[in-house]
Amino acid sequence: MNLPSDPIGVFDSGVGGLTVTRALVDRLPGEAILYLGDTARVPYGNKAPATIERYGLNIARRLNDTGIKALVIACNTASAFALEAIVKAHPKLPVLGVIEPVAQQAAASTRSGVVGVIGTRGTVASGAYTRALHEANKDLQIISHPCPLFVPLAEEGWLDGAVPTEVARTYLAPFAGTGIDTLILGCTHYPLLRPVIQRVINEVVGRQVEVLDTATATAKVLDDLLRAQALQAPRDSPAPAHKFWVTDAADSFKGVSTRFFGSPLGHIEHVDL
Ligand code: DGL
Repeated sequence: MNLPSDPIGVFDSGVGGLTVTRALVDRLPGEAILYLGDTARVPYGNKAPATIERYGLNIARRLNDTGIKALVIACNTASAFALEAIVKAHPKLPVLGVIEPVAQQAAASTRSGVVGVIGTRGTVASGAYTRALHEANKDLQIISHPCPLFVPLAEEGWLDGAVPTEVARTYLAPFAGTGIDTLILGCTHYPLLRPVIQRVINEVVGRQVEVLDTATATAKVLDDLLRAQALQAPRDSPAPAHKFWVTDAADSFKGVSTRFFGSPLGHIEHVDL
């Protein structure tokens, strides 16, 4: 039974989902979050689809068992490979991935009809963005490229300067001459590199490109979903106490997490799955 007073479960392979959590907390300040970062098994981006599905099912079961009213899969790779299985396994739990909300937003905002997508190898190979964008508008042209090195750069805090700029130039060069006017950051790590990505994509394409991330669009769709299902936290409930769980060393997560969440997380608990 999902209760309005229950927290919202959120999970990612590690810290990336904290960019989505930031947007959730900003948009829904009355809601408590239970976040699980699967730091023992990160990265997801280069693992087989069946492995990611198994990880996702495992995490969803664990979060659901503790009592959550909705689940946000705050990882593009897990949204691409595990969403369907999780929805099937938990028919009564509202489950939201991060791909569809931003795909809808991009489909509504593109003028040229050509949308670029960058993400992990897994996300790009899955074709999940192409399917979601075509569902919104079958006439769109979609051009996707994996940018795997953006993940370690974001985690190391190498967010601008010579190395990230050179990596971005190399990854984004194939978008030259394609006519994209919108670029989706299809990985929850990439918003940290937004300034360099924005600068380089404008340079490569020769015009201002709209860069969209998954966080804001997902927060809006979750807001609508909670409202529609009468699952919003009661107005008179106390200030929400967020919980942060990791499956590997909590200490190493702490430093990096501040950069992704924008403020310190407080207590981080280690859990075994
Ligand atoms: N945060 C993951 C995503 O959005 C990428 C990191 C990883 O490879 O685990 O796909």
